[in-house]
Amino acid sequence: MRIYQAHDYNDLSRKAANIISAQIIMKPDAVLGLATGSSPVGTYQQLIEWYRKGDLDFCEAKSVNLDEYKGLGPEDEQSYSHFMHVHFFDHINIRPENTCIPNGLETDEEKECQRYNKVIASCGGIDLQLLGIGCNGHIGFNEPGIAFDKETHCVALSENTINANARFFASRDDVPKFAYSMGIKSIMQAKKILLIAAGENKAQALYQSICGPITPSVPASILQLHNNVTIIADEAALRIILKEHVILPGGHLK
Ligand code: GLP
Repeated sequence: MRIYQAHDYNDLSRKAANIISAQIIMKPDAVLGLATGSSPVGTYQQLIEWYRKGDLDFCEAKSVNLDEYKGLGPEDEQSYSHFMHVHFFDHINIRPENTCIPNGLETDEEKECQRYNKVIASCGGIDLQLLGIGCNGHIGFNEPGIAFDKETHCVALSENTINANARFFASRDDVPKFAYSMGIKSIMQAKKILLIAAGENKAQALYQSICGPITPSVPASILQLHNNVTIIADEAALRIILKEHVILPGGHLK
């Protein structure tokens, strides 16, 4: 794991965008694993800016998203599909047929999970997976307690996650209770992983994920076993880690 401290959210977004940008430059047909939430918004904005300047070309790139609320379709403004269009896809030249998101409107869970696993396999696996982190250490919608060997599955969202995500909905009752999520197994099969975290409310989860035991109660702790993980976080998110450790220039903790 390599950990880098960002000065602020803009710096974090630029650093993350630089890593994604390098991936696309070195492998134009790369498969990007993409994330939603407030954390990656700045990263997408920066990538859009570089695309507009002519520095980046997504015409051969492919993407697979981590998750989608069950019951919400692309037309729903709270769906992750809508989020991806508004914040990223509609502003770059990625081909719509090369972007994949779980279908929240599919009621047959088994069918949708199998379809999505096939989608991931058919693009040859993920080259670079972008991740945010939930306050309870979830990645994608892999909630605490999830088995590490899961592929795509339908998840019952935890109270903690429903409360945290309620800010995007008119009321807490409007937050879907279930979601389709890429599983930990699929995330761990990505060749590279880039996790971004900003703000004090991520400090505990980040500390437990990086410095704590590897346990399903903190889903992101499994990342300690991946051989190519980069974490970019701001000072607030690193607060507890920085009480015990110093980050060396190479990104390792002392
Ligand atoms: C949601 C998403 C996660 C995301 C998390 C944190 O639950 N499913 O992929 O990492 O929220 O979101 P935010 O970046 O808004 O804090």
